[in-house]
Amino acid sequence: IKHLRSAADLDAATATLILDTAGEMAALAGREVKKLPTLRGRTVVNLFYEDSTRTRISFEAAAKRLSADVINFSAKGSSVSKGESLKDTALTLQAMGADAVVIRHPASGAPHRLAAWVDGSVVNAGDGTHEHPTQALLDAYTMRSRLGRLDGLRVAIVGDVLHSRVARSNVLLLTTLGAQVTLVGPPTLIPVDIAAALSPQTKVSYDLDSVLPDMDVVMMLRVQTERMQDSYFPSSREYSRRYGLDLARMRKLPEHAIVMHPGPMNRGMEITPEVADSSRSTIVEQVANGVSARMAVLYLLLGGKA
Ligand code: CP
Repeated sequence: IKHLRSAADLDAATATLILDTAGEMAALAGREVKKLPTLRGRTVVNLFYEDSTRTRISFEAAAKRLSADVINFSAKGSSVSKGESLKDTALTLQAMGADAVVIRHPASGAPHRLAAWVDGSVVNAGDGTHEHPTQALLDAYTMRSRLGRLDGLRVAIVGDVLHSRVARSNVLLLTTLGAQVTLVGPPTLIPVDIAAALSPQTKVSYDLDSVLPDMDVVMMLRVQTERMQDSYFPSSREYSRRYGLDLARMRKLPEHAIVMHPGPMNRGMEITPEVADSSRSTIVEQVANGVSARMAVLYLLLGGKA
């Protein structure tokens, strides 16, 4: 494949190749191999129209570890603030010879538009409420590392599914790889038609307590108040009482189950600090795995091996 715009771009074989390659990247880092020459002379542009901590830093680290030249572009402080369009920005990057453009944008579908204007590979680093495929890859990698498999794994994705690009990409990727996904949250944040459209085998539940005992993985989502109208959301206290993961709820999970969160977290709302910092939490591990997963994506896309 040339671009990674959606988790739907990945069939099971390609997704597995990326996860295996991420494992090789992590093994090299573990053997103190800090840098690979693979992408020497290639240019990766990080084009961020929305704020990011984890994704932007890990793409930069991934590209640098592969010896690529990295250009970091942030809409703030650029000619975007003077009204320059995405197309004109893309043509400017094209003129500078970008081999890959990693884009985060508030508009769903922006990476698809961008791919029509640049010759290089386009990687979606989060577009609106649509998708965040490399987050799904690092999440799948983390699950496979911790639990040994993805096929048949039972995964609950909990909370603000409606606004979550992480949830969409995870449902697509995890079901491609044979996992069983249950979306859990208040009805206003999980319209059933969304669950059905994402994947026919995706289940929906509005009762977190009843779901937890059967799960191998529980993935808590950030409540995205910035994308929300008041009518969607009762109150923080009511939300936490019904859908927040605290110690008492975590104890309902099987012994082996892990707790995930893509970050950034609203500590005290969807997850308590005690759970986020517990030994079952993979939140920090997910960040570390993000570098390996993004190295694998850049390596395979730019090397034409995916
Ligand atoms: N998980 C994630 O996308 O985090 P950032 O917004 O910090 O990149």
